[in-house]
Parts: sequence; C-alpha cells; structure tokens
Amino acid sequence: MAEISEAKIRKIIDSRGNPTVEVDIISNNITGRAAAPSGASKGTFEVRDYPEGGIAQGIIGFARVSKMATGMRLSDQKGFDSMLHEADGTDNLSRVGGNIAVAASLAYAKASAKSDNIELYQSLSSGKTVSLPKPMGNIIGGGKHAINGTTMQEFLSIASGKCYSDSAFANVAVHKKTGELIRLKFPDLSLGLGDEKAWVAPLSDMEALELLSSAIRSASENTGVKIGPAIDLAASEFCEDGSYTYKDKRLSKEEQIDFMADLAERFGVMSLEDPLDESDFDGFAELTKRIGKDTMIIGDDLFVTNKVRLQKGISIGAGNAILIKPNQIGTLSDMIETVELAKHNNYKTIISHRSGETEDATIAHLAVGLGIEYIKTGTIGGERTAKHNELIRIEEKLNKSQ
Ligand code: PGA
Ligand code: ZN
Repeated sequence: MAEISEAKIRKIIDSRGNPTVEVDIISNNITGRAAAPSGASKGTFEVRDYPEGGIAQGIIGFARVSKMATGMRLSDQKGFDSMLHEADGTDNLSRVGGNIAVAASLAYAKASAKSDNIELYQSLSSGKTVSLPKPMGNIIGGGKHAINGTTMQEFLSIASGKCYSDSAFANVAVHKKTGELIRLKFPDLSLGLGDEKAWVAPLSDMEALELLSSAIRSASENTGVKIGPAIDLAASEFCEDGSYTYKDKRLSKEEQIDFMADLAERFGVMSLEDPLDESDFDGFAELTKRIGKDTMIIGDDLFVTNKVRLQKGISIGAGNAILIKPNQIGTLSDMIETVELAKHNNYKTIISHRSGETEDATIAHLAVGLGIEYIKTGTIGGERTAKHNELIRIEEKLNKSQ
C-alpha cells in the first residue's frame, strides 16, 4: 500500500480574487490536489474556515498536519480524517481551519483513487452503478453575492434533460435568454454578473421570478428540455428579530411562510433553499408540512452539512432536502456520514459550490460517486463550468463503459 511522502499547502487565488488554500498529498510519483472554496453568506453553524490569524496562520499551522500525514497509508479516508480531527483538537476545526482540513481531506481522497488507478467517483461508489446529478444553475442573483441585486440571493433553473450535457446546456439557454430579457427591460443600463456569474439587475424579487419564468418557458421550448425555477433565499441574511425585510415590505415569520407557499404554488417553484432563518427548525417544519409534498425545502445554513443538525431536522420534519458543502463540515468522512443520513431518511441531496470558487472540480466526482441527486454549481464562468465540464467527461466515460 502506498504511503504519503509529503503534504504541501499553498495560497492560491479564488474567483473573487481572495486568497484560498490548495493542498497536495504526494505519494512517490502520485499527487492528489484539492482547493477550498469560500462562502459570502456563510452559516453561523459551519466549522470555522481558518484559525485565529487567518489564512497565513493556517498555512503555518499546517506543518503539524503535514508531519502527522507523512508516512500514513493511502486509501484509509476515515483514518486520515481522524488524524485531521486529532491534529485540530476542537469541535469546529478552529485550530487547523475547516478550509485547510477540507482541502487536505479531498486531496487525500484523490491521491488514494489515483494510486488505485481509478477515478475519484469510482473509488467513492465502490463498484455500485452510478448516475449523474441534475444541475441547478444560478440565473439572477443578489443578496451577499452582488451589489444592488435582488433581496433573495439566487434565482435558479433546474433542467431535467435526457443527459447531463443536455441539462447543463438547457440552463445555459435560460441564462442567455434571461440576459436578453434584462437588456430589453433596461436598454440604457450597464448590466453585470454577480459572484456566481448570475445576472445582477435592479429587479425586485417578484420581477426576477417573473423574468426567470419567461426565460425558462422560452428555453424549454427551444431546447425541448423540461426546466423549472428554484430559489435560494439565504433568508438569514435579511432576517432580523424574526422578521424578513425586503426592499418593499417587512414580513413576520408566519407571513414569510405564507409568501413561500404562495410563490411555490403560483410559479411551480421546484425548490426553496433557506426560506427561513438558519435557527428556525420549527418554521422549516411548518413550511415542509404545507408544501413539502411538491416542493423541495432545502436546508443550507440550517443544516450546514452537519449530521447532528440534520438529525434534529429529521426528527421534527424540518425540510426534506439538504445542501451539501464539504467545507461547511471540513472532512470528506463527515460529509459522507451526513449524505448517508439524508438518504436513509429520504431527504434529497444537493452538492454545492460556494460563491468564492476555484477551478477544482472535485464536487463533480462526489456527486456521481455518492449518488447525490443535484449539483448546484452556477451556470457559466470558468470556476463553475470546471464542474459541469468534468461531469460531461464523466458522462462520456460512463456511456463508453456501458
Ligand atoms: P455562499 O452561499 O457560498 O456565499 O455561502 C451559497 C449558498 O447560500 O448556497
Ligand atoms: Zn444557500
């Protein structure tokens, strides 16, 4: 069995121009490499991304992890991830830093797959038949991802094509059509894209949803692919003392729940992510009871990929789907436990990028290898298409081997 000869860390640039980390796990002539993304609308209950002193301190502190990793065998993910927890010694990875831990954990997984001469998705699926996820593409955005955009963070399209490639291109068609419609509406304005390359325009949330719906209708007719709308509200960002502040109104919790149910019904919204505050398990349960039969109610900041928080949600029926972000929890093994718990309880799973990304496409492999149903990774933009294009390659490989 191959052993780790070296573990290296470096500072690289993310899609927002901020520094992030990349880790190499090296075993003789094999290198597994992974980089960490970063969030703008982070959940309060995520593990801590970097130790006190920030990324620079995290990189200095990595020496300890590197020393412990050297000499360890590959292909023992749980053993490696336990080492990361041991090196850290806190319950929120605040000494090593969750972003450093996740880059190391994923780099280790990639090195292990390489040493077995297989792809990462193959090593994760351990021989089981795999399928491709459906893409959720961000089309119009605001919140913490853009200046002067919508209050709700993301208006997305979910395409259900015959294959991944058809679906990804159908979302692109929605993005293009939306751009045309926005230009028609604001002929004199300079328009732009937000952090996740979704359109940013001075639209109210309702206008954005109406525009998205028209673009979806048109793209669906042109491509022949079934497409539906979805929203990520990231509601904690505009919830204060239990009320939700929009540009034009302020809603109580009960009014917010009514508003969500109304939108889902009127626009056929396929999923509502973080429609309520990140601590409001009861509110999630109430909304799920009302519309959960037809609509995915996704917990992102609510669950933060944490199995304890997910278990709490399951026990009271809060949500029926979970967003999976590896760096919210810090290691691949912890993430897999959360995915398994979700699947065991019929919660839908959605793996996700972060608003600050790199060209790293590991989540494409995690989606396929772990049977995750959806992937939320933007629509266009190199750091987003890196994941889509990897899935297109995986799909090609799977088709060939059938
Ligand atoms: P973040 O948000 O990556 O900026 O935290 C993305 C999301 O809320 O899904
Ligand atoms: Zn979210």
